[in-house]
Amino acid sequence: MAGTRNLTIEEATRVDDDLVDAFAALVPQLSRRAPAPVAAELEAIVRTPATVLLVARDDTRRVVGSLTLAVFRIPTGVRAWIEDVVVDGVARGSGVGAALVKAALERAEAAGARTVDLTSRPERDAANRLYVRLGFEARPTNVYRYSSEG
Ligand SMILES: CC(C)(COP(=O)(O)OP(=O)(O)OC[C@H]1O[C@@H](n2cnc3c(N)ncnc32)[C@H](O)[C@@H]1OP(=O)(O)O)[C@@H](O)C(=O)NCCC(=O)NCCS
Repeated sequence: MAGTRNLTIEEATRVDDDLVDAFAALVPQLSRRAPAPVAAELEAIVRTPATVLLVARDDTRRVVGSLTLAVFRIPTGVRAWIEDVVVDGVARGSGVGAALVKAALERAEAAGARTVDLTSRPERDAANRLYVRLGFEARPTNVYRYSSEG
């Protein structure tokens, strides 16, 4: 495996085959059901002002992880959500996830977000530990989902 010592976290601003291939490898590690995004879908994330697609690259510039930060204004202020945090299996355990989340928190703060929310299923042990370690606190609220997929 290439090293993650010289890790860079950057915003993806253009979509190329390497980025599409990276998500083809990452998305199945995040969800068994969601198809990997095609180039036009990644373009939409990159172009939309409210979403920031952060990628972690190792010292060979290979994408080893990603998350998406959504920042938006609602009547109670600017809020942010972190979604789709994933690190490639071979790069886990060396701080890539933490670096991605910290970079997202910095951007959210710079954008004036009052809060940064995320959800994580309890069985995602590494993810839950990571978020608590970085200062997230479980919030006593009910999380609801309406699915149009039935
Ligand atoms: C959650 C996830 C993003 C964390 O990424 P990461 O780069 O491994 O994160 P970090 O290295 O910063 O921390 C991971 C933790 O796992 C430990 N770990 C060590 N070796 C590991 C390995 N080979 N595999 C997984 N975790 C390992 C780390 O020491 C750390 O443990 P700690 O919290 O007790 O200190 C990654 O495990 C992942 O992509 N999981 C699958 C998708 C997922 O659950 N996403 C979150 C959705 S909410």
